[in-house]
Amino acid sequence: MSTGLWQEKDLHFVWHPFTHLKYAETPINIVRSEGSYYFDEQGNKYIDGISSWWVNLHGHSHPYIAKKVFEQLSTNAHSIFSGFTHPAAIELAERLLNHLPDNLAKVFYSDNGSTSVEVALKMALQYWHNQDKAKTNIIAFENAYHGDTFGSMSVGARNAFNNAFSPLLFGVLRLPVPDNENIDAVKQTLLNHIKAGNVCAFIFEPLVLGAGGSMQMYDAALLDELLAICKQHNVITVADEVMTGFGRTGKFFATDYLGNKPDIICLSKGITGGVMPLGVTACAQFIYDAYISDDKHKTFFHGHSYTANPTACAAALASMDLMEKQETWNNIQQIAAAHTSFKEEIKTHPNIISVRNLGTIIAIEIKTPEESGYLNNLAEKISAYFIQRGILLRPLGNVLYILPPYCISKTDLTYIYTCIENFLTKH
Ligand SMILES: Cc1ncc(COP(=O)(O)O)c(C=O)c1O
Repeated sequence: MSTGLWQEKDLHFVWHPFTHLKYAETPINIVRSEGSYYFDEQGNKYIDGISSWWVNLHGHSHPYIAKKVFEQLSTNAHSIFSGFTHPAAIELAERLLNHLPDNLAKVFYSDNGSTSVEVALKMALQYWHNQDKAKTNIIAFENAYHGDTFGSMSVGARNAFNNAFSPLLFGVLRLPVPDNENIDAVKQTLLNHIKAGNVCAFIFEPLVLGAGGSMQMYDAALLDELLAICKQHNVITVADEVMTGFGRTGKFFATDYLGNKPDIICLSKGITGGVMPLGVTACAQFIYDAYISDDKHKTFFHGHSYTANPTACAAALASMDLMEKQETWNNIQQIAAAHTSFKEEIKTHPNIISVRNLGTIIAIEIKTPEESGYLNNLAEKISAYFIQRGILLRPLGNVLYILPPYCISKTDLTYIYTCIENFLTKH
């Protein structure tokens, strides 16, 4: 098809996510991706600075993952997962549990980050229901984002993402994100929520709040204090590691920074190396045990057509092989060290409100005449500036962040830093 025709057809037939329909630019037509690069139909190359919506770990169209996916596709592309099982799902569950905290014992599959959260919420709620306890209150952070389905929107912050649905979202008890100044007050609020009664669970994004908090970061020690309170009062703790899992924060899981381990962990995004959709909700044995009963009503009635899709599980196993290589961890450490040096270099820049980093994530909040936030108009300016320079960065309003695939070269990372410095000076 001739250049430009794809885009014309796209505008005609396709509705894109998170896209302002009136003023959106014509989307760039990506026809190939390799390593940390995208290539469009005109042959332009873009460095992927955000891992394709935070999913890619080892590089695009990775030959090892492609080979493993092809083998699975040609052996058992898909099979039903109720009453049936398959080796890829079993091996993946075992290997994930080897890396997850020791208290987690069972893996439940779904197919994206939002569903992994829905499953976690339903699992926790029915845990109490199966014991005839009316515990239905969920505690969540003020700036949380957990996905776009109704349950995950309900536990997310109320904002532009879900305004239209707010009358239908269930109520949630809110907790400010802790810092060294407010920690005592946050602990007291948590205790007050618990004392008010019927608290089922506390759900949180460990150490980094992504889309809702614009990469707001907080200390593991503070989260540990909150988790200790939850444990003392029988509140189920749910870590949403959809973004933070698989090395993003510098450890395999963000919960590896914690002393108190959550009872449930949600995973998706990087789980398949960014190749296939897959969600996982891993839980402690005591949660699973509450579903073992002679009473059929105590069954966990949840499942999706593509639950534990074998091809997605094969991609996840291949990505796990790569995650277990020392080279991947060397790359992660190099990115983390480079981010730290860059932060030191720019932290006093007059156009910056703040700069923060953890592991492979760095976020820069830029000064603008408007209020900071997702709808800040600097976002479009930033995206266009970097696309013109062959870089894909997709800011959260006026918060510019880099979250690259682990295979990104030092040269490309340095080039992104230089363009950011130029942008900060010119904007
Ligand atoms: C922490 C967190 N949870 C859940 C989700 C939802 O994942 P998905 O987009 O795969 O539904 C996201 C997506 O950005 C996320 O960052």
